[in-house]
Amino acid sequence: MQVNIPLKKVVDNSYNITIDSLPKTHFDAKVAIVTNPKVAGLHLAYLLSKISAKELYIITLPDGEEYKNQKSIDVILESLFNHRFNRKSMLIAFGGGVIGDMTGFAASIYQRGIDFLQIPTTLLSQVDASVGGKTGMNNSYGKNLIGAFHQPKAVLIDPHFLTTLPSREFGAGVAEIVKMAVTFNKKFFEFLENADLNDSKVLQEAIKQAVATKADVVAKDEKEHGLRAALNYGHTFGHVIENETKYKRFLHGEAVAIGMVMANETAVSMELMSKDEALRVKNLLEKYNLPTSYSVEDSNSFYETFFLDKKSSDTNITFIIPVGIGDVNITDNIQKQNIISVLDQFGGK
Ligand code: NAD
Ligand code: GLY
Repeated sequence: MQVNIPLKKVVDNSYNITIDSLPKTHFDAKVAIVTNPKVAGLHLAYLLSKISAKELYIITLPDGEEYKNQKSIDVILESLFNHRFNRKSMLIAFGGGVIGDMTGFAASIYQRGIDFLQIPTTLLSQVDASVGGKTGMNNSYGKNLIGAFHQPKAVLIDPHFLTTLPSREFGAGVAEIVKMAVTFNKKFFEFLENADLNDSKVLQEAIKQAVATKADVVAKDEKEHGLRAALNYGHTFGHVIENETKYKRFLHGEAVAIGMVMANETAVSMELMSKDEALRVKNLLEKYNLPTSYSVEDSNSFYETFFLDKKSSDTNITFIIPVGIGDVNITDNIQKQNIISVLDQFGGK
């Protein structure tokens, strides 16, 4: 005997991403803003001058990637239960990618899912983390290994928040902007080459183009069955660099910058990218003081660490290799020796 549950349905998770000064908004619902002490100290008063709600609560989590864990998720959930949030209530993620990912994850599991808004305050979260609905937390096995796809109801990007961002954090965001351009948008790359992102108007245009590029990819492949994996350009190498340096020496975007240079060298060795194109990407990263070199101590050990990446299987490593500027190849079919030769150029034996 068989009982069939007909669950084929079209779900409309569409939402808008607004890049502008925050609009004045009142929510006729219980709302909790999730943030951290640094962001709250700098910008909560401004946010509260724009956002009001029937009942408004602030949940403050400690600042840092090391707090992107179950304990912080529990803090959010406890607060929601204490204030009797229901399925019509809403969360607002107010901070960088750490706050955004955790708020989204808490929203995805509280009473099987409530709405949330993204109000990202770092460049990296404005151009990447807040868009696309990947939410989650870390555990002792690794980064972002627990999570859910849960799209926000809207993303409100106010470039005003970036005025207080430290320059290294700014650079880390630029790395993700460069990532979007190299993988998907040659014209955008050329724009970046000729622009100065320290100019607020130029920056706003770059945020818009990066977000539009990511939105297009997410619309085509929301749950990363294929194309979306291209957004991991630079990350396969970058994750190993973060792992080898114990997450202390480089910000994530900085490790991704070096990772992109390594992916480009791989592309050059496979004749998918010219030396000149690889140099142009390196020059653009260096314009924003991003690191582009790394001394690989042991190429074989570096290679073995690829297998810890959640995109790798037991036998295959997925590499995102640019094809010129503006196109990309997602492949798990590169010979180990080819990658070792590239890593050797970075100082390996
Ligand atoms: P972060 O959230 O740790 O923020 C970096 C630092 O900047 C923190 O100390 C934060 O308090 C501070 N900060 C935030 N806004 C500020 C402001 N306006 N002025 C001054 N300081 C400010 O890091 P991040 O780079 O924003 O995000 C990294 C996280 O995002 C990682 O956990 C990563 O896994 C995640 N991520 C997620 C996605 C996704 O698609 N969901 C994509 C990329 C990255
Ligand atoms: N940051 C990669 C993604 O959103 O898919």
